[in-house]
Amino acid sequence: MKKRIGVLLSGRGSNFEALAESVAAGRIPNAEIAVVISNREGAPGIQRAEARGIKTQVISSKGLEREVYDRQVAAVLDEHQVDVICLAGYMRLLSPFFVAKFLNRILNIHPSLLPSFPGLESQRQALEYGVKFAGCTVHFVDENLDAGPIILQATVPILDGDTEATLSEKILKEEHRIYSQAVNIVLEGKYKIEGRRVLRTG
Ligand code: GRF
Repeated sequence: MKKRIGVLLSGRGSNFEALAESVAAGRIPNAEIAVVISNREGAPGIQRAEARGIKTQVISSKGLEREVYDRQVAAVLDEHQVDVICLAGYMRLLSPFFVAKFLNRILNIHPSLLPSFPGLESQRQALEYGVKFAGCTVHFVDENLDAGPIILQATVPILDGDTEATLSEKILKEEHRIYSQAVNIVLEGKYKIEGRRVLRTG
């Protein structure tokens, strides 16, 4: 049976699209995107999913307590029997309930070399700090922001002429590449977690 991926997003959805592309091209074999959920009405990522004929659901988070909201999202993910959940520009913190329910089954992509520059505007943070290499990280999600065991990272050099826009573009290209690879590793189960380390077993 095909492994089922659930995607949570809030905006543009280019990482979702890269995953969908990888599934379609067989780079993530024996898998399908079962549902795409957004907390934001009108997220372009939802339109992208609809254009691909993938099931979507918008669940507005307005005025709801974090766990109350997360229980609604979890119910939809359960309904679609997802094996893995990919956060793809999902601009919400997850409740301990949600993290525990899907422990080691939630992945996130972040546009920095964690643990450097967690949070928002990581590319700008990297430029302002003056580091010479930036990059992106795919990690399992735990209760803390942009934390959790690291599955894959990719680096990009920061050149003198780089701006937030050019750096973000270079990083995004790597995000699209390694997110699919990481999902594949997890779905194939060819890894083990030892402490904070995610080790390949195949
Ligand atoms: C990406 O840079 C991702 O790393 C971060 O949010 C951004 C989402 O972009 N978590 P997109 O919606 O996937 O295009």
